[in-house]
Amino acid sequence: MSSIPYSISQPSPKAIRGSFLDFVDDPFYVPETESVRYVADGLMVVANGAIVAFGPYADLQENYGELPTTTYSNQIIMPGFVDTHIHYPQTEMIAAYGEQLLEWLNRYTFPTERKFESKQYAKEVAEIFLDELLRNGTTTAMVFATVFPASVDAFFEAAERRNLCMIAGKVMMDRNAPDFLRDTAVSSYEETKALIRKWHKRGRLRYAITPRFAITSTEEQLRLAGKLLEEFPDVYLHTHLSENVDEVAWVQQLFPDCQGYLDAYDMAGLVKERSVFAHGVQLTDAEFQRLSAAQSAIAFCPTSNLFLGSGLFKIEQAKSAHYPIKVGLGTDVGAGTSFSMLQTANEAYKVAQLRHQKLSPFKALFLATLGGARALCLEDEIGSFEVGKAADFIILDPQATPLMAFRNQSCWPEQLDELAELVFSLMMMGDDRSVHATYILGQQV
Ligand code: GUN
Ligand code: ZN
Repeated sequence: MSSIPYSISQPSPKAIRGSFLDFVDDPFYVPETESVRYVADGLMVVANGAIVAFGPYADLQENYGELPTTTYSNQIIMPGFVDTHIHYPQTEMIAAYGEQLLEWLNRYTFPTERKFESKQYAKEVAEIFLDELLRNGTTTAMVFATVFPASVDAFFEAAERRNLCMIAGKVMMDRNAPDFLRDTAVSSYEETKALIRKWHKRGRLRYAITPRFAITSTEEQLRLAGKLLEEFPDVYLHTHLSENVDEVAWVQQLFPDCQGYLDAYDMAGLVKERSVFAHGVQLTDAEFQRLSAAQSAIAFCPTSNLFLGSGLFKIEQAKSAHYPIKVGLGTDVGAGTSFSMLQTANEAYKVAQLRHQKLSPFKALFLATLGGARALCLEDEIGSFEVGKAADFIILDPQATPLMAFRNQSCWPEQLDELAELVFSLMMMGDDRSVHATYILGQQV
């Protein structure tokens, strides 16, 4: 276990007692009886922001029973949610009526992102955005800023003040966008490089090279993005891929020599282990296989895919045994319609249903936690209650509303099947109201 890249001063350790749910393996490949860890009466000991002991209360009581302890009854304690794809500047334009992707970008998104030329404005929205993430129990996210470098500074400054583990980057966009949002291949390279030097691995922050999508980047801009990835091999690549049918057709026109959409990125050296591609709704079999071979990740964004009418992501193909791909859930706000990863899991379940597939509650919650952490190559730091990881966790209330209290009045779960039923109702009916508390590095926020 590598050590976490921070330490906050907490003079004395403390403990949390309650019912803990996390994952020790991937339930898409390992039976749930082995991949789900449920400790009905557990204890987690936190010191200097990290988990230093975790297990059944009965086992830890002797060593840690005297610590100051906060006990949560009739609540589920989970690792903080990981949102693998979201746009902070689009917070204010969530739920914009009536368009599909390309028209939606022109009509709503680009005019909104223009406002982030003002750093002051970007700072205000960054605070609202982070408040909203934490209210919803999301403790880590991979985030699009805008084309303006100061909008990246505003975001990272706000995240740093809150001790959050966040990944973000400046949008690179040198064609097929309004003048007021365009950079050039060279300016995007220079500005991104300066931002990487400033922010990557500063405390809990990481940088993602962020070409918006193949349509808004020239071949030269993508090539320079690939050059940056070579120069800084531990930064991320974050972009959109194969979301909408018209988008895929346009990419084929813009890159006539490429064998499909993913190949436009591949030719530039952008398809790697730390690459995260949002959507992938329209991927071909060959593209699924290529993503698997490259160990790249997909952010599955069901509320967005339904809202923009993009289509139904093939989760069973992405998580196939032959060509497994790392998958996380993304809200994709503002095309996504909720900050809640519970609501996102709910819609993921329905997308699977429409394709006659099953997405069990444990699989969905895996995607929202350890699966997301793995998609972001952060599984050494976050995503489960393993000792040594950061103490970023949430307290979920399965009785947060009158209807949920009525639905969930039976005995507290002891066994996995009882738990499955409870957390399924939580994921179908729950939202920000079900997040009783959010902890960052062991401190309630
Ligand atoms: N493709 C390119 N830009 C965007 C965006 O802002 N949102 C979504 N959903 N898809 C995109
Ligand atoms: Zn997006």
